[in-house]
Amino acid sequence: MRNLDEDNITRAVIGMHAQAGNVRLRELMTSLVQHLHAFARETALTEEEWFQGIRFLTEVGHITTGTRQEFILLSDTLGLSMLVTALNHKKPEGCTESTVFGPFHVEDSPRVELGGDVANGAQGEPCFVCGTVAGLDGRPVPHAELQVWQADEAGYYDVQYGEDVPHRARATLNADAEGNFHFKTIRAEAYPIPHDGPVGRMLEALGRHPWRPAHLHFMITAPGYERLITHVFRNGDRYLDSDAVFGVRSSLIADWVEHPRGAAPDGTHSEVPFYTLAFRFVLNPDGA
Ligand code: BEZ
Ligand code: FE
Repeated sequence: MRNLDEDNITRAVIGMHAQAGNVRLRELMTSLVQHLHAFARETALTEEEWFQGIRFLTEVGHITTGTRQEFILLSDTLGLSMLVTALNHKKPEGCTESTVFGPFHVEDSPRVELGGDVANGAQGEPCFVCGTVAGLDGRPVPHAELQVWQADEAGYYDVQYGEDVPHRARATLNADAEGNFHFKTIRAEAYPIPHDGPVGRMLEALGRHPWRPAHLHFMITAPGYERLITHVFRNGDRYLDSDAVFGVRSSLIADWVEHPRGAAPDGTHSEVPFYTLAFRFVLNPDGA
């Protein structure tokens, strides 16, 4: 294997993987090499451009920490995360659609009772959320576990304020025996994804904005059903058709209904205007 040129180097590299014991790894790397080489050929990639790409990926690596995952942001903003979600969560008609996970989920969010306060001090306009979790057959899914998380009115998740800040605007709760849930939180607002790093510079160079439309994240699990990772998006948001990470699906858009100050759904008197949101989640039975 000598004197490789632009016409035979792809075959030579792929040939070197022929003995790989892991068949799936061989399949993935063969395809990756083919597409990478095709990209270089198709664009007549210059050495300077190749090195700029190396520098960019190096910066993505350097800024990445346990709480700042720039590689996932890169995948999100290139539409790869949403493509992988779409490929892996094809569901029967009627099931709630999945969307991107995002980098701001945490494992140990505070547990709240039904009707509890998810905001836990996060700033924002009051919002009362209720809904049901059902199966594809329309029957309620009893006691489904819901994890919910969102940004505050300034557009930040609690974890973006540093490690010493208590968990806010996120919680874990269980639906009741009839699949019903309700909780109090703050109104979801549009926010820019972290854009003070290489991915932000990439977006700017491409003439793209970093904003996501207002949304509330949900992860819903129940025995016998596929885990659902999704958002509910706020109807009317100006970024619904230009989400920086391509996650919007029409079926996930809902109304945040505005109410004047007065009697609130939890039986209290709200001194300020508040919002309500209702959403029905339909889970995909395992093996469907
Ligand atoms: C989020 O919705 O939390 C998110 C998703 C992708 C990138 C950044 C944030
Ligand atoms: Fe989010």
